[in-house]
Amino acid sequence: MGRMHIDDEMREVTQNILDSGAWIKGPESKAFGAEWAEYCGAYAGTPCSNGSVALIAALHVLGVGPGDEVIVPSHTYIASATCIELVRATPIFVEVEEEYYTIDPESMRSAITEKTKAIIAVHLYGQPVDQSIFEIAKQHQIPVIEDSAQGHGGALNNRRIGSFGDIATFSFFPSKNMAVGGDGGAIITTREDLADSIRLFIDHGRSDKYRNDILGTNFRLSEIQCGIGRVQLKHLNHWVERRNLIANRYLESLSDTEFELPKIRPGAIHAWHQFVLRVSNRESFIDHMSNHGISTGIHYPIPCHLQPVFSKHPQSKLGTLAFTEKLCNEIVSIPVFPLLTDDEVQRVITAVQLFNQ
Ligand SMILES: Cc1ncc(COP(=O)(O)O)c(C=O)c1O
Repeated sequence: MGRMHIDDEMREVTQNILDSGAWIKGPESKAFGAEWAEYCGAYAGTPCSNGSVALIAALHVLGVGPGDEVIVPSHTYIASATCIELVRATPIFVEVEEEYYTIDPESMRSAITEKTKAIIAVHLYGQPVDQSIFEIAKQHQIPVIEDSAQGHGGALNNRRIGSFGDIATFSFFPSKNMAVGGDGGAIITTREDLADSIRLFIDHGRSDKYRNDILGTNFRLSEIQCGIGRVQLKHLNHWVERRNLIANRYLESLSDTEFELPKIRPGAIHAWHQFVLRVSNRESFIDHMSNHGISTGIHYPIPCHLQPVFSKHPQSKLGTLAFTEKLCNEIVSIPVFPLLTDDEVQRVITAVQLFNQ
């Protein structure tokens, strides 16, 4: 389902940073944060340890805490929801759109209460969320965190993922659309008033070596990883183009099969982190693909509201979010990473088509 890109520039950068002895808090972190924010069209950016702590940091700087509610789609990676519990607030799980699998605006609107302190909108699989999410949130003066862990390089109406909400969080986990040679993440913001708190929070709230102005901790990313991220960023547009090329080949070649194929939101550049089909007999499809030497994935088999970690949550029962629950039983991801060769793409297509016969 993935293959690493490692090149000589990444090796050279790593060697140089290693030799410099400046392993943390150096020029690479500063430059990577700024370059990433600029790429996404945000005001400021801060690299951090991973996409999960990026979400915790985002909630913290927005002042979310005990007694607050945060709206989140149940169909997402668990980190989008557990971050809310970790700041002692309550996740309110909502549906995803039947066409695009991202947070459903109406489901979100009806979940808003006077306790709603933030909304986490996930650009799941690289599909940009519906713009009305931001309009509804604005009407209610509720900040939006874009969980963009799967959205690097995606865009809607000529604006990149990460530039719509108050804060956007990213993951550079090795299988993501770009990586940093280990775990990694970033927090970017479109709001000048949040930029300093984010930067300070991930570095013990310090304004000077031994002066700690606000509550913070160590969520920093190392210099080597930031250096590697800067090299990877140079390739990102090309990789997203290649993901789109592969996805379009799948969409064309599989259009007359029994599978329900993913759709692209009008006006969007899909980041195609995952290419997700829907099939009723998923287990036999997975076996079939495996017999043809092709790996598949399920992103994700259990909706967040039905995860054991949320067993005490009031929404934790089957039937609460009917579409999400049905979707999680049908989805299966096929490889769409940019380093797939044309021959490999054809092998995937042939194998999927054979299942149909
Ligand atoms: C939607 C989503 N949010 C958050 C995360 C967490 O990122 P990380 O694994 O870097 O902590 C991921 C990573 O898989 C993700 O896919």
